[in-house]
Amino acid sequence: RLENNRKMTEINREAANFFYRCLTSRSNKGFEYLKSRGWKKKTIQQFGIGFAPDQWDALLKHLTSKGYETQLAHQAGLITKGKTKDTYYDRFRKRLMFPIFNSRGEIVGFGGRVIDTEDQPKYLNSPETSLFNKRKLLYGLNLARVHVRESGSILVTEGYTDVISLHEKGYGNAVATLGTSLTADHVHLLSRYTKLAILCFDSDSAGSSAVLRSIDLFAKTDLKIKILTLPEGTDPDQYIRRKGQRAFESLITEAPTSVEYQINLIRKKHSLATVEGKIHFAREVTQILSKLKSAVEREAYAARLAEEMGISKTALLSEVKSSGFRLG
Ligand code: UTP
Ligand code: MN
Ligand code: MN
Ligand code: MN
Ligand code: MN
Repeated sequence: RLENNRKMTEINREAANFFYRCLTSRSNKGFEYLKSRGWKKKTIQQFGIGFAPDQWDALLKHLTSKGYETQLAHQAGLITKGKTKDTYYDRFRKRLMFPIFNSRGEIVGFGGRVIDTEDQPKYLNSPETSLFNKRKLLYGLNLARVHVRESGSILVTEGYTDVISLHEKGYGNAVATLGTSLTADHVHLLSRYTKLAILCFDSDSAGSSAVLRSIDLFAKTDLKIKILTLPEGTDPDQYIRRKGQRAFESLITEAPTSVEYQINLIRKKHSLATVEGKIHFAREVTQILSKLKSAVEREAYAARLAEEMGISKTALLSEVKSSGFRLG
């Protein structure tokens, strides 16, 4: 099993080298597309970005010529079995290729992006193998580790291209999930490297519901989170390319904690101008406060919220009490 895993990372590395050479050695549509993303040569090398040619068996032929067995290429998810017996073709064709590394720096799978918008799906990933488990891997973590230690935080995004652009603009502490939402395994992995995760999801409805699910996941751990909100319809890659590093840095500085984020949502739902609104606001915020483990934190938020509502802190905290929480 271990020996087999080693063989798979080896064939994956050979495939990545092949894709990289295909991208850079001749003029092709992949290279044209890549130029439009505006990444530096050095970044492309660091992430090992490549191109899978628009052919049925370019990779298979290459691997065979290097002495690799078809069976191994199939097992690694690089080639797919055809309908007729013993026919195989390349899984990735006419796609920009992003090798996916584990935290030890071994290539365990690939993400392939279309270069023509009409092609589907936009991203095709490797199938699950004994090495490639999307629920446990974080894209970019191999490079991010050292930066996470320096900065004391980790930026969690949704996409490969978000990681690459952030990394290039000075945020080497960025990682991404692989097309799944954040799992408990991911959170556990993050907790090995840092105490603060800054969630930096796409600003669309999928991103917002991912934030709410993540808040619940992190609430079960000692990791702190901040939630960075981008302008509607944008993602970190688009934002930092258009607005630059300084603008992104302000978003980090302004990013609310998970409690603040939840209170902001409640604020949007209920107006404090009416008594009715205040009652609903008070009930919902006290539910959030009652979940806080630290009494100091609870009191501090209560004081701030009471002032905002124009009521006494005692009145607000008694709402916490009646919502079933025993004040310590
Ligand atoms: P997005 O649709 O936000 O793509 O999906 P993106 O990362 O911004 O990519 P660009 O900038 O258009 O190139 C976010 C992530 O979801 C996964 C990929 O991991 C992608 O990076 N995804 C998306 C898939 O696995 N399959 C898809 O068809 C689409
Ligand atoms: Mn770096
Ligand atoms: Mn999205
Ligand atoms: Mn994008
Ligand atoms: Mn995106």
